[in-house]
Amino acid sequence: MRKRGTIAAIDVGTTKVCTTVARIDDGGGVRVLGVGVTPSSGLHKGLVVNINEAKESIHESVRKAEQASGCKVESAYVGVTGRHINSQNNQAVVAISRNDKLVRPDDLKRVLSSARSIKVPSDRKLLHVIPRGYAVDGQPGIGNPVGMHGFRLDVEAHIITAGVSSVQNLVKCVRSIGVDTEDLILEPLASAEAVLTDDEKQLGVILADIGGGTTDVAIFRGGSIWHTAILPVAGYQITRDVAIGLGLPFDVAEEMKKKYGNVSPAYETKRTRDNDTLTTNGHGVSHQDLCDIIRARIEEILRLIVLEMPNSDYETLVPDGIVLTGGSSNLAGIEALGRNTLQLPVRVGIPRNIYGITDVFQDPAYATSVGLLLWGAKYGGTQTWQPRGIGSGLLHLISRIVDLFH
Ligand SMILES: Nc1ncnc2c1ncn2[C@@H]1O[C@H](COP(=O)(O)OP(=O)(O)OP(=O)(O)O)[C@@H](O)[C@H]1O
Ligand SMILES: [Mg+2]
Repeated sequence: MRKRGTIAAIDVGTTKVCTTVARIDDGGGVRVLGVGVTPSSGLHKGLVVNINEAKESIHESVRKAEQASGCKVESAYVGVTGRHINSQNNQAVVAISRNDKLVRPDDLKRVLSSARSIKVPSDRKLLHVIPRGYAVDGQPGIGNPVGMHGFRLDVEAHIITAGVSSVQNLVKCVRSIGVDTEDLILEPLASAEAVLTDDEKQLGVILADIGGGTTDVAIFRGGSIWHTAILPVAGYQITRDVAIGLGLPFDVAEEMKKKYGNVSPAYETKRTRDNDTLTTNGHGVSHQDLCDIIRARIEEILRLIVLEMPNSDYETLVPDGIVLTGGSSNLAGIEALGRNTLQLPVRVGIPRNIYGITDVFQDPAYATSVGLLLWGAKYGGTQTWQPRGIGSGLLHLISRIVDLFH
């Protein structure tokens, strides 16, 4: 949005498109002015598969948000996800050549720009270059080296790239309805902004957004991003399992999953549910069978999430465990199942740190939407773009690729 202090965000999900318009107040708080949610079509596993259908869904969602907020959406922060996302780490070093040997913000810029000068194949685009940590004269583990003395500054950066055509299709849909893309943001990074605390990021935590088409994973340690991954399995597969397993039409399976699904560990529920029969639209199924099918898939997803870590010493790597977001984390009993299956703390993350019209956001499915706004407010163009202190999330900078599609 061009209006001063007003920003918009579009989360183009596999099951819903959510556009939000918000005003950033003087203290940096984000006040939501309007929200527009529509079911999405033309998307599969986070990717645009039908431009016209996707465009229509996005248009409808933007129109609703404009109506609700009374603001015209001219540009927006747009979330990106899908299997085409890759991440890797890279190191870079620069010399501090000035006489006083004092690390300045300029040196940070230089070392990051050196870190991002990796060879990116022509079919991929750089999305984010995020510092994981700095070292001054070989001393590692420094969150913010500005003001320190030294001869050399090293950075380890997390580099996220996306498939050019996948991203171009998304940007094309958004542009075709007259909205410019302010910035593209990897969705799990946005969700993390909305639900994680600084302490969790510092100690070690996994953010997992189990949506409709993808499960988006971001692992934080030492106050910074450590690893990101997109898994192509989520709520859609759960519904398909129920439909196939119980011989139900897809929409009936979806309704039953949401209405009666409960994934509390099997031993807790077995006795009470054995004889229950549920009926929806004339289809009768056993409650126990329904829950067993859903639980099996959720257990698999939870195990896939922790497999993103290099070894099984999860308690040391992520003592704060897993924070779940995304619509599928609404499943009753998911926290208990997670704790039981993984022996880690598990909580469901409800978006926070926003004001105004927030009723709709009291749901983990909206973590990405809220996070996109928070991200825009924190790192975007309407504010002075500057990191807020060291433990505040992704700290300093995310390199914005301003000319991504120019
Ligand atoms: N109460 C519920 N119980 C179980 N599943 C639910 C519930 N509410 C929503 N879901 C599931 O959540 C999924 C949608 O989640 P979400 O809105 O986070 O996805 P999305 O953002 O559209 O998709 P994605 O992020 O994967 O592209 C659907 O599969 C839906 O069935
Ligand atoms: Mg989503």
